[in-house]
Amino acid sequence: MKGWRVEVKVPASTANLGPGFDAVGMAFQLYTTVSMELADKTVIRLHGDKLEGLPLDKTNLIYKVASLVFERAGYGTPELIIDIDSEVPLTRGLGSSAAAIVGALVAANQLSGKPFTNDELYRMSAELEGHPDNVGASFFGGIIVAFIGEKDVPYVRLPVPEHLEALAVIPDFELSTEKARDVLPTMYSRKDVVFTTGHAGVLIAALATGNLSLLGAAMEDVIHQPFRLQLVPGLEEILKEAHRYGALGVALSGAGPTILTLIDKRKPYDELKDFMIHTLEAYNIHSTVLHLVPDETGVVVNTFRAVTEQRR
Ligand code: HSE
Repeated sequence: MKGWRVEVKVPASTANLGPGFDAVGMAFQLYTTVSMELADKTVIRLHGDKLEGLPLDKTNLIYKVASLVFERAGYGTPELIIDIDSEVPLTRGLGSSAAAIVGALVAANQLSGKPFTNDELYRMSAELEGHPDNVGASFFGGIIVAFIGEKDVPYVRLPVPEHLEALAVIPDFELSTEKARDVLPTMYSRKDVVFTTGHAGVLIAALATGNLSLLGAAMEDVIHQPFRLQLVPGLEEILKEAHRYGALGVALSGAGPTILTLIDKRKPYDELKDFMIHTLEAYNIHSTVLHLVPDETGVVVNTFRAVTEQRR
């Protein structure tokens, strides 16, 4: 599709929500936008202040993923003009790489004449990311519950319960998913597995039925958060105390270091915000708090005549 420019807007996401490790994600109205068109020579441009330091050559994640789509579709390696704009801070646990992967897959699929279905793209995104929680939420919006199966990636999409929003405290340091996964054990006791199946089950049932009062207890986790405490100063205090300041539930957002509290949008949250900022400040960590509204839409695609073509 030379002469066309595809713009794909993808929501950010949180993953896990405590015990739903690698299985539960929720999308937010915080967006990464990927614009792409076929060209004679690859050019990658970054916009906004969140993407500094990302590669501008063919090692760029978005280029690599887009290239994979063209190659799998039988078109060989493409030359592309790619513009990337993002409101999502990188490497903080808000699904920036998942949003980039989803944006690249959908844009490249559109430009190459839609050889893959949405479910095929979703499966590719989960395989590339390694877990389906962030990519599922970015793709479909709302709340996603999913696992990577042998042949496919089964998922259920739930709407976000009425009045549920989030407050995220984003510490001023990066934490790679790889580092945050390296600290996890490879074996768990039956006691911890039983704790997790019960809590994850109640978490999903509470989200599905809008039973917000169960979230606090259901979001307790024993399989990843305790091991990640050492990587995120202040996490332990915020996990323990956030409910006293009005949080419905609290969890490490994905692999961190962002900490996510779920809130009832009808109630004030200033005290919770101050509590989280001051808790991190006590460790000399500067942070930003974002009020996050769920995204129910997922990926949005727009196609335009490329400006370069119109000028001819
Ligand atoms: N579920 C993943 C983890 C999310 O917690 O490691 C990483 O983005």
